Amino acid sequence: MSGAAEESIAFERIGGEPGTRALVDRFYDLMDLEPAYAELRALHPSTLDGSRDKLYWFLCGWLGGPSHYTDRFGHPMLRARHMPFSIGIKERDQWMACMREAMVGQGLDAALAARLGEAFHGTADWMRNKGV
Ligand code: HEM
Repeated sequence: MSGAAEESIAFERIGGEPGTRALVDRFYDLMDLEPAYAELRALHPSTLDGSRDKLYWFLCGWLGGPSHYTDRFGHPMLRARHMPFSIGIKERDQWMACMREAMVGQGLDAALAARLGEAFHGTADWMRNKGV
């Protein structure tokens, strides 16, 4: 396990499966509605149902909970799976801003949101596949 799971209580502190699902749903609701995330939204399919499920399954494991994603798809190979999408600084920063807004909206306490924000940033930055 990697990322935020080093302190395995992250999954419990976020509220287990229902809390993780609620965070993911808020993240994609914001992405769908907020003009500030338009370029990020445009990279995604017209319906976000599949994206919601996959990020939810992935985050359960990443936060230290059940391994729903790897049970279904094997190793996440996240960087390879993001290669079809052109991801630079702007896309990374929109993803991070959308996730930070979702965490605040879900009422995560500041210390947890800060810790997860750092871990998310590391992963989001690793997903960049173009210079700008
Ligand atoms: C850096 C900016 C990012 C962009 C622009 C981006 C964009 C995308 C797009 C367009 C998809 C395809 C959605 C679909 O097939 O429905 C996707 C899939 C996914 N993303 Fe991201 N993403 C970013 C960062 C992240 C981060 C930081 C994580 C994890 C913490 C993440 C986790 C995932 C997962 C688990 C999938 C599903 C992969 C699969 O099984 O196909 N993404 N992302």
